[in-house]
Amino acid sequence: MIELGVNIDHVATLREARKGKAPDLIAAAKLCELAGAHQITVHLRVDRRHIQDADIYALKQVLLLRMNLEMAAEEEIILIAEEVRPYTICLVPETREEVTTEGGLDVAGQISKLKEVTARMHEKGILVSTFIDPVAAQVEASKAIGADAIEFHTGPYAAATGSEACKELERLQECAAVANEIELNFHAGHGLSIRNLLPVARIPGLREVNIGHDIIARSIFIGLEGAVQEILAILEKVETD
Ligand code: PXP
Repeated sequence: MIELGVNIDHVATLREARKGKAPDLIAAAKLCELAGAHQITVHLRVDRRHIQDADIYALKQVLLLRMNLEMAAEEEIILIAEEVRPYTICLVPETREEVTTEGGLDVAGQISKLKEVTARMHEKGILVSTFIDPVAAQVEASKAIGADAIEFHTGPYAAATGSEACKELERLQECAAVANEIELNFHAGHGLSIRNLLPVARIPGLREVNIGHDIIARSIFIGLEGAVQEILAILEKVETD
């Protein structure tokens, strides 16, 4: 089955709105575990706008599931990852002004730097994925730096409608074929929701999706466990197709 990583950043976004303790991030992670998620994803941003350093350490203590740490290749964050040792990290680009991660990482443009970061993570037993746009050169560059997987940026697909959405889906399918050919595991994430997940989930070879905003937004109406289970039901449907 395609695995589900639940990105719980926006539980922390709500908490940080009052700089208090609620909603409790650990409780949210535990509910995702109980609901059947396969992984907990958190993005420790350089500006610490939602997830805080203490969250990462606390989650590492209590999580039964794998932790996927999304992070920029910035020394300050690399040092934290080396200490915490999440199961996997996902290298993302980051700019201070953006509302959320806007584009894929330019792996091809910084091969030697990212090769070094990947090697440092591997030394600590941490797997590495790269968050990239569906562009063949970025898939190949990710293989070249020694990444264990790539995560396709599905934001443009999610934001598009009609024939534009079909084109974006084709781009994802074509690059997934490249990843399959060079035997690089691939994931998908950004903007995925109960409305647009199924066509992406049907791409042959897809291993994992990471979903945050839609699950946390749905949870306001139907609860966190229900929101996780809705997504799992879609992934299970693909399994039985
Ligand atoms: N994957 C990556 C690499 C991301 O940066 C994000 C957003 O933090 C997500 C997945 C989840 O995106 P969304 O919140 O739109 O589901």
